Amino acid sequence: MDTRPAVVFVSSFVAQMWWCWVSELLAGVLCQLLLSPGCEAYSLGAVVTMVPLDVEGGQKVTAHVNVMAPAPCPPLQESVCEGTDCVTHVTSSPLSGLYPSPGWCLRQWQSVVPSNHTSHPQLGSMVNEVMPAWVELSIRPDTQKVNQPPQVALPPPLRASENCPRRFSLSVRDTDGDQVRCRYARAKLGECQGCSVPAFLQLDEVECVLIYDGKGQMGTYTVALIVEDFPAVLLSNDVHSDGMALSSTPLHVSLTVEGESSHCQAMPAFTGRTPAGEARFTVMPYGEVSIIIDAQSSSERVTEIAVVGPPGLWMSALTGNQSAGSPASISIVWVRSPNNLLHLLPICFTANTNSLQSDFRCVWIEQKTMDPLPPGTVLECGQKEMNLVLPLSSLQDLPLSDLQLNDASCPISNNDTHLMAQISLTGCGTKIVHSGWELVYTNTLRSVRPPSTISRLPSLVLPLACRLPALQRQAPAYSISVPMEEEAFGAVHFWLEFHRPGEGPLANQTRIMSTQVQEATLGVRSTSHLEMLDLHVFSDCQLERAELMVGTCMKSETPDFQVAHPILQSGCVSDNTTLELLIQNAMAKVFRINLPALGNSGSTMYVECKVHLCVTMKPSQKCPDECGGSMDRSMVESLLTHTYTVRSGPVFLTDTPPNTIITTSNTTTTTKSNPKATPATTPSHAPEDNCTMAMGLAMGILHMLIRSLLH
Ligand SMILES: *[C@@H]1O[C@H](CO)[C@@H](O)[C@H](O)[C@H]1NC(C)=O
Ligand SMILES: *[C@@H]1O[C@H](CO)[C@@H](O)[C@H](O)[C@H]1NC(C)=O
Ligand SMILES: *[C@@H]1O[C@H](CO)[C@@H](O)[C@H](O)[C@H]1NC(C)=O
Ligand SMILES: *[C@@H]1O[C@H](CO)[C@@H](O)[C@H](O)[C@H]1NC(C)=O
Ligand SMILES: *[C@@H]1O[C@H](CO)[C@@H](O)[C@H](O)[C@H]1NC(C)=O
Ligand SMILES: *[C@@H]1O[C@H](CO)[C@@H](O)[C@H](O)[C@H]1NC(C)=O
Repeated sequence: MDTRPAVVFVSSFVAQMWWCWVSELLAGVLCQLLLSPGCEAYSLGAVVTMVPLDVEGGQKVTAHVNVMAPAPCPPLQESVCEGTDCVTHVTSSPLSGLYPSPGWCLRQWQSVVPSNHTSHPQLGSMVNEVMPAWVELSIRPDTQKVNQPPQVALPPPLRASENCPRRFSLSVRDTDGDQVRCRYARAKLGECQGCSVPAFLQLDEVECVLIYDGKGQMGTYTVALIVEDFPAVLLSNDVHSDGMALSSTPLHVSLTVEGESSHCQAMPAFTGRTPAGEARFTVMPYGEVSIIIDAQSSSERVTEIAVVGPPGLWMSALTGNQSAGSPASISIVWVRSPNNLLHLLPICFTANTNSLQSDFRCVWIEQKTMDPLPPGTVLECGQKEMNLVLPLSSLQDLPLSDLQLNDASCPISNNDTHLMAQISLTGCGTKIVHSGWELVYTNTLRSVRPPSTISRLPSLVLPLACRLPALQRQAPAYSISVPMEEEAFGAVHFWLEFHRPGEGPLANQTRIMSTQVQEATLGVRSTSHLEMLDLHVFSDCQLERAELMVGTCMKSETPDFQVAHPILQSGCVSDNTTLELLIQNAMAKVFRINLPALGNSGSTMYVECKVHLCVTMKPSQKCPDECGGSMDRSMVESLLTHTYTVRSGPVFLTDTPPNTIITTSNTTTTTKSNPKATPATTPSHAPEDNCTMAMGLAMGILHMLIRSLLH
């Protein structure tokens, strides 16, 4: 009976709050933001993964914490960290999802803690958990290394229909090759709070499969699991031979049981280019993992593909023609920049329709470990090329004729002692990736042999990278990873202003147009109401080559936008009501609105615009035209922030008093700079006028990997 499984049970968040309220009334005790012991609160999933620190005889580990919090997304502050060396993966647009309503977001952080440590992830008022984890740090007799705890991938919040049985296979890994098993957390061991057991869930402890029998009651349930590793063969002189685990990793998984479905067999499914579950992607330094996920449902429209993955994961919007039976897809990209994340990074995803969920799949990104460079190797980053010099002594037994760069035609030369290559940054197959706030040029020197050749010779894979700190070049920072957005764009403000045609701060650019346009399009002028109004959208972003983009603007006669009409749709002006005035200021957009055509009956209106910033990589490039609908493909050429919403105050449409700004509003970004996030490689003394030489100053990184192919 002491092994009786225990499950944390959460009926629903609403019910939980109700319970707190009742207990408050009864006990007369203030239920402090749901955080007092009687008011436990749960996430929609959480995992704490420990990694032993690379310190001889140390008793500390890094705990990597991932928590899915119910919407609204709680802020992530440094106070969430327990222990030292706190790193919060702050981002203004964390991975998030819609189901279960009202949605969730993923929060991630890491810190150094003792090797036997119970984490208490606490976010906002909704998340307050108990997650015990421990790692045995003694050297294993079989591997002569410290044991690595098992890793388990955090699935997105799981959903099931009341009457449809489901099997949820968890994705686990163990780098030591140990057996991994899963069990329920036990109350007796203090592994969970208020543990209880819903009878409709079973756990296959060996295969780590959670089984729902299709007899549950509606509600959201959070299950506390412990994932443990056991030596596959008994270790000699083993203290663990009594069947004790070597280490444990806590995982909380949520299952939301929803109403009955008549389509138990018609769940959405992955198709096409979606990688197989458990697929593994190996990534070199500055390499990029790019995955496309396709999903389809015969009975309903796929409304989202929910993804849980590592910090810095970029995710596109859902594409597809939005009808039942037609495929929907997203693409996700992760770039490996210098990081202290896990060596193996899981990504899990699932496709949701309004009432059903596909099986979830997990794939793993392996950050390839690189060997140290042979002495005497030099990579210099020049303005137009990288120059590699590699001592031949490090390439023993390796035929030089086998070596090639990304572009096999790019020449490699050598003298008696060294191999040399001058690798153009714009040719030779050199790739450009965005890494945080840097631009990175990458190429790879590798040995290539005809596939039929059977060889005992070693092979070489040598990734080459020149990174270009953008600040050094007085150019905007580039990023795919939104976490770096604050560093890329600074704290940015957006605001709207309304002016009579040809007036306002850009008057000298809009005035001429104003006379032409007015003559052309203005009919009878009413004396009391304005006919035309200039909507100005501004941002104060200071970055060179950044461009303000305006997506959709709506106007409404009421501040709640219950009834709203488009002024602009996805960057396109709506029929005849609006005209964009082209001006020379990249941080301003002006639209001339034909008020009678908008059909405004009142004397007041409100306007809301969705805006973002875009930066092009090269001066000659243009930001994608949102109206053209080519947003996703242009990701590598330009960088988009996430979208901000700016809303105006009341705009008075009567023509009095003349010659004044009618109204302004000011919305700031919700992002907060992380003062600790200053990049370590920022040159503190880079002379401003030296920007064209910056490549020469940029740092070279070189990693080498020599593998023996034994057949
Ligand atoms: C971890 O610490 C707790 C409390 O200090 C203790 O009860 C437990 O036995 C420890 N676990 C291991 C495996 O050392
Ligand atoms: C959506 O896709 C389906 C199947 O691919 C097709 O039959 C349908 O005509 C498409 N609808 C639209 C509006 O394009
Ligand atoms: C070969 O080239 C390298 C790099 O240019 C140079 O340092 C070295 O002295 C050269 N060796 C000989 C034998 O010329
Ligand atoms: C508009 O006028 C301002 C000063 O009033 C001036 O600084 C700016 O250069 C002018 N812009 C154009 C395009 O003429
Ligand atoms: C736009 O204006 C033209 C000319 O005034 C008119 O013929 C046309 O119907 C208008 N289009 C819309 C969509 O209102
Ligand atoms: C908006 O706020 C920013 C920062 O506080 C300020 O610089 C800017 O002038 C404001 N704009 C308006 C129109 O109030």
